[in-house]
Amino acid sequence: MANFSLATTDDGSLSLHENNLDELYHNRAGAYTEAVTNYVEPALQFLQLARPGGSLQVLDSCFGLGYNSLALANHLAISKQFSLQVDAVELDPEVLAVVPEVLAQPCFAALKNQTLANLNFRVNVCDLRQFLLERASSQYTNYDLIYHDPFSPKKVPELWSVDLFRHYFQSMAEDSALLTYASAPAVRGALISLGFSVFRTTGLGRKNGGTIAIKTSNKELVHELLSMPNSCIFEIAGEELRRLGKSSQVPFRDPNLNDNSQEILARREAEQIEFRKAAAII
Ligand SMILES: C[S@@+](CC[C@H](N)C(=O)[O-])C[C@H]1O[C@@H](n2cnc3c(N)ncnc32)[C@H](O)[C@@H]1O
Repeated sequence: MANFSLATTDDGSLSLHENNLDELYHNRAGAYTEAVTNYVEPALQFLQLARPGGSLQVLDSCFGLGYNSLALANHLAISKQFSLQVDAVELDPEVLAVVPEVLAQPCFAALKNQTLANLNFRVNVCDLRQFLLERASSQYTNYDLIYHDPFSPKKVPELWSVDLFRHYFQSMAEDSALLTYASAPAVRGALISLGFSVFRTTGLGRKNGGTIAIKTSNKELVHELLSMPNSCIFEIAGEELRRLGKSSQVPFRDPNLNDNSQEILARREAEQIEFRKAAAII
C-alpha cells in the first residue's frame, strides 16, 4: 500500500501527505506556488544573466510529483527561449504514477498547449545517493540547474549532507545554480564551505525564504544578480546570518554516502559539542 494520501494545498493544487514521516510534500500555501516561488522564479532570474537562451541541463532530485521541473518547463513553454533536458531522480514509483493527474491541472495549461520543441525528461527510479555515486564513477553531467527537494533535513539528514552537496558541486557547470526550499544553517553552511555563493530566495506562507547556491567565479555576475530590479534573490542577513556563525551551521556528514540517519545525526551532535567547546575557549 502507498505511504501517502492525496491532499489539496491552499492554491488549489494537488499534493501528497507522507504518512510515515507525517510531512506534506509541499508548502501548505500551494504545491504549484511553491515550485514557482522557490524553484522557477529565482532560476529564471539567474538564467537571464548567466544563460540568455539555449539548451539547459537540469537535475530534479526527489522529483515526486514533478512540480519543480514541470513548472520550469511550463514557464519556458511560454518564452520558448530554451530547450530542456531534465534528469529526474525519484525513489518511489507509486508517486510517479500520480504525475498525469498533476499535469491535468489548469496550472499546467501552457505546457499542454504549446509543446516545447526540445523538452526531454529522463526519469531515474532510484535512490539519490546511489544515482550520484554511479554518476561519480562514470561521468558527471554539467548541470545548469539542480533542484533539491527531499523531505526535511531533520527527518532525512542523509539527503542533506555536505558530502552529497560536494557531488552536486562537481557535477555543475561554471555559472550554474542549485535551488532548494531549505534555509537551515546546516544546509547553507555546508554549501558555503564547498565554495558556493549562497543567497536567500522569497519566503512563502509561514516559511522562511529558500536558498539559491551559485557556482561561479564571476563576482560581477553575483553583484548584477543581486542588483536586478524586482529581485527575488537576497543577501542573507540578520538572525539568519548570525546563526551561520553558530553550532547550528555544523553540516551533516556522510563521507561515503551510505550512513543511516541515526549515524549522521549522532556525528553532527558530537561535532556541534566540539564546535561549542572551541567557541567557548576563543
Ligand atoms: C518533498 S517530496 C518532493 C516533492 C517533489 N519535488 C514534487 O514536486 O512533488 C520528497 C520526494 O523524495 C522522494 N524520496 C525519498 N527518499 C528518496 C531517496 N533516497 N532518493 C530519491 N528520492 C527520494 C520521495 O518519494 C518524495 O517523492
